[in-house]
Amino acid sequence: LAKIEINMEDVPEGKSAVFKWRGKPLFVRHRPSDEIEEVRAVDIAQLRDPERDEDRVKDDKWLILLGVCTHLGCVPIANAGEYGGYYCPCHGSHYDASGRIRKGPAPLNLEVPEHSFPGNGVLVVG
Ligand code: FES
Repeated sequence: LAKIEINMEDVPEGKSAVFKWRGKPLFVRHRPSDEIEEVRAVDIAQLRDPERDEDRVKDDKWLILLGVCTHLGCVPIANAGEYGGYYCPCHGSHYDASGRIRKGPAPLNLEVPEHSFPGNGVLVVG
């Protein structure tokens, strides 16, 4: 299936859920406001793959990511690591709550797939 529809009520604020999309893990994170403030306060000049959080999300509260580490493709763990986002246990890459690489061998931020919020509490990825 090319697209997946997710009922946003299934992912309450503060939670991270994993779905399967095009054979890959898809991370859907419903971010509380303190988490949004924290990732937006980061000076992007210090980042390995400099991207503003604002340019990675379509709705501040919803972070949508492919759950594939950009190092060698393992599946990171949500709500783990030193930056409060994701941690890849294979070789120790730490991502923040915007999915940006902060520490460890991964070269790039976690990929944000095409997605939209057509209304009625539905998120569409693909
Ligand atoms: Fe994730 Fe190597 S595959 S750190």
